[in-house]
Amino acid sequence: MKEQPIGIFDSGVGGLTVAHAIKQILPDESLIYFGDTAHLPYGDKSAESIRFYSHRITEFLLEHNSKVVLVACNTASASAFDSLKEEFKDKTILIDVIDPIVNYLGTRHFNKIGVIGTKRTISSCTYENKIKEKSPSTSVISMATPLLVPMIEEGFIFDDISNAIIRSYLTNESLSGIQALILGCTHYPIIKNQISKFFNFNVEVIDSARIVSMILRETLEKNHLLNDSGIVKDQFFISDYTDYFEKIAKMFFEGEINLKKADIWS
Ligand code: DGL
Repeated sequence: MKEQPIGIFDSGVGGLTVAHAIKQILPDESLIYFGDTAHLPYGDKSAESIRFYSHRITEFLLEHNSKVVLVACNTASASAFDSLKEEFKDKTILIDVIDPIVNYLGTRHFNKIGVIGTKRTISSCTYENKIKEKSPSTSVISMATPLLVPMIEEGFIFDDISNAIIRSYLTNESLSGIQALILGCTHYPIIKNQISKFFNFNVEVIDSARIVSMILRETLEKNHLLNDSGIVKDQFFISDYTDYFEKIAKMFFEGEINLKKADIWS
């Protein structure tokens, strides 16, 4: 069990932000990453479709012996995590990216916070409902920012186009006075600096990558599943080949990566 990999999935490059943080916190762990590039973006799909994709990908990760499955996608965490738990709870440990953030907020006591995410994540009201339960005195302003994922997947990251789109979303009056902004999409840490800069570094910009990696470490420790074999092998799978995925994965993982196309949808 211990040397089995940690399974992670997202629609595309977003979950790499989480995978990267895991590698920093748990360098002895092997990862198996699935980017569902054939169905990207998830944010525009129905909850039923997201559930269907998430179940099949979880099966794929379990067929590859994952000891834990980490849903490194807010859209899938919001739409599919409950049904994944129902189906797979006896077969593996499941971790999502929303509950760890909500628990973290419970320790911070903010008056007003913003959440940005895909249309599917925001319309599900998962963040709002969970935060209301855990931190009833925090007011939550949610906003869908659907152009950010295609923008990032198309490589518009540090330029005038990305800055204009970020500015256009974040100047929204409803966000004025927020003390923290949750990046409710795992793609967004790739543009975290520009977002922090937009707020003149006066707003705490919270992303799940590090917080979720810490939860993963605690979970592995508690279940005596930390890999102490000294054998580390990372594998990356995508459902449709894109140059950009390879480029970003190489950027995060410095150098050659073991990337394969997995035809799980035919
Ligand atoms: N990175 C994902 C998320 O956290 C999915 C974005 C998308 O494919 O629309 O929501």
